[in-house]
Amino acid sequence: MIKLKADYVLLMDNKNTILKNAEVIFDKKIIDVGYDLEKCEQEIYLGENSILMPALINSHTHLEFSSNKTLLEYGDFILWLNSVIEHRENLFINCKGDCFKKAVDEMKKSGVCAFGEISSTGDDLRYLKHSPLKVVYFNEIIGTTPAAVDMLYQDFQARLNESMELQNEKFKIGISIHSPYSVHPFLMDKVLNIARSENLPVQTHFMESKAERRWLDEGEGEFKLFFEKHFKNAKPLIKPIEFIEKFRGLKATFIHCVHANEEEFEKIKEINASIAHCPVSNRLLNVGLLDLEKVKNYSIDYSVATDGLSSNYSLNLFKEIRAALLMHVSLHPKYLAKDLLKAVTKNAAKSLGLNNGEIKKGKDADLITFKLPNSVENLELLPLQIILHTNEVEKLYINGKEV
Ligand code: BEZ
Ligand code: FE2
Repeated sequence: MIKLKADYVLLMDNKNTILKNAEVIFDKKIIDVGYDLEKCEQEIYLGENSILMPALINSHTHLEFSSNKTLLEYGDFILWLNSVIEHRENLFINCKGDCFKKAVDEMKKSGVCAFGEISSTGDDLRYLKHSPLKVVYFNEIIGTTPAAVDMLYQDFQARLNESMELQNEKFKIGISIHSPYSVHPFLMDKVLNIARSENLPVQTHFMESKAERRWLDEGEGEFKLFFEKHFKNAKPLIKPIEFIEKFRGLKATFIHCVHANEEEFEKIKEINASIAHCPVSNRLLNVGLLDLEKVKNYSIDYSVATDGLSSNYSLNLFKEIRAALLMHVSLHPKYLAKDLLKAVTKNAAKSLGLNNGEIKKGKDADLITFKLPNSVENLELLPLQIILHTNEVEKLYINGKEV
């Protein structure tokens, strides 16, 4: 049993409770929180202006693309997608063990205890099965060509089965449907049936670009040219609302939603799904900014994630939420900061189906500690000050063990 004492303890509960000069006792799980708690063999005071809070969770990454630095085309979604298709194999070949390790290390330094990894090849499994961080490993399906459906499904099943065998308390499995424009509905149904029967969380990219909106609504625009270039005579295969409906009853997360409309937000809420917001990726591909006010008005839970290094310059999750804080200029920074901390803890845990993201009896002891440069008088501003002044953490505990 360990007891940590900090000047500020953020519980990340529904009331956004912040305790001053408080204590947390834990072994693998949180045992108690409060004041004057029982004596423990190991008791640590974290120091002046110390913060103790749940470790962060990056709900959506693509580590297979971690070798990308300056190769891919930014500033336009379709140009980017074409550059991904052109360089994909090379980026994969150039991402071996050390490349995955660097990516995980960057997240770890920024206080991330768990991440949702989208795997399109299974190549990341060799490294990630030994990851020091918790992984929810989403096997991805992609492909619209009817003639390739059987082959793609077999390949998916092989990857899924291999990953399922590695499941343990730090390695969980999920399924990813790449997007409504890139997966044949037949494949989608087969794969979602597995998610249903195995009770696996699912993720999908949704309404990331204007081009996607136009293609799915009208079968026109830049995606029409894209499909003519890569796949002869393709047509949009599903209406966006039908697409969302297929996730009913599943633990589903819709990534991006920048161009989702009212009806789609309503449907996402109705099926009790969540959204993952990747503001830096959206900025670099120049697709626009998710309307967080709308997301809040529909009472949809959202997490914030970095996406992959294919559309970001960093996997540091504190940098990502700082970018969000600075980008959403219509929202009050004090309240947005609270929501953003919630997005990368409690909400991300819920999205991935993890038992962490909150300091509460019985939750996994996944915790971070760090210090602010000075004290904070108005506790209402603590989340904002944390986001402004934190890049790296001092200690990261996962299941009660310092990593
Ligand atoms: C496909 O494999 O069919 C596909 C991939 C990317 C975008 C659209 C379609
Ligand atoms: Fe993504």
